[in-house]
Amino acid sequence: MKLILLGAPGAGKGTQATRISEKYSIPHISTGDILRRNIKEGTELGKLAKSYIDKGMLVPDEVVIGLMKERLSEEDCKKGFLLDGFPRTVKQAEALETVTDIDVVLDISVPYGIIVDRIAGRRMCVCGESYHVSMGIGDTCLKCGAKLYQRDDDKPETVKARIDVYDKQTSPLIDFYNAKGILKSVDGNNEPSAVFNEVVKVLNDFN
Ligand code: AP5
Ligand code: MG
Repeated sequence: MKLILLGAPGAGKGTQATRISEKYSIPHISTGDILRRNIKEGTELGKLAKSYIDKGMLVPDEVVIGLMKERLSEEDCKKGFLLDGFPRTVKQAEALETVTDIDVVLDISVPYGIIVDRIAGRRMCVCGESYHVSMGIGDTCLKCGAKLYQRDDDKPETVKARIDVYDKQTSPLIDFYNAKGILKSVDGNNEPSAVFNEVVKVLNDFN
């Protein structure tokens, strides 16, 4: 299954992606995670990405497209994949079409007020797991034991910029994929497990 997860910042893409990837045994490919890993390792790509991510802006299309073309050519993507955070512009979506077909695009929709609260309370782990402070979590990841941290771009002023960028540059992808007849929507304003049940109902038709 070749799947794209769409949704505003904080919609729950990463949270659902972890579960989908486990259930359907497909790699979870998150451009945000790849870029943050590069920032942590201090690579040239990381330095460039940081200058955009810290402002809530998108990293230039050419950079992300190149990165994803390379990633999608790897062996583990042959049986399918789940894209989280890519494509994010129509230009990226058009570039993706030149390297692979896509079975389904899943849009997770959540009202904006909820999104802001979710992002403010998010705590991350290097293993990719994400938590919310309301879950009554401690300082460490329940899955791997590493110390949890808050993302640099989760500050309120950056979150506002990310939501504006989503509205202007990413939300047009809803119409783009709807016109191709492969868009499905799920209500993301429920408990993570309830959202996942909805996701599975949709995906079982494609698997
Ligand atoms: P990226 O890492 O993709 O961030 P994002 O799209 O802003 O989305 P988030 O990761 O913030 O949210 P999410 O939907 O994954 O939510 P999560 O599951 O964590 O991108 C970061 C930056 O990298 C971009 O701004 C850009 O600069 C750059 N970038 C990345 N891709 C790019 C591209 N293709 N082109 C150019 N630039 C790119 O959940 C959020 C919180 O809510 C958590 O605390 C979670 O526990 C909680 N939560 C989740 N689901 C629920 C639920 N159902 N109920 C209650 N709480 C929930
Ligand atoms: Mg994410």
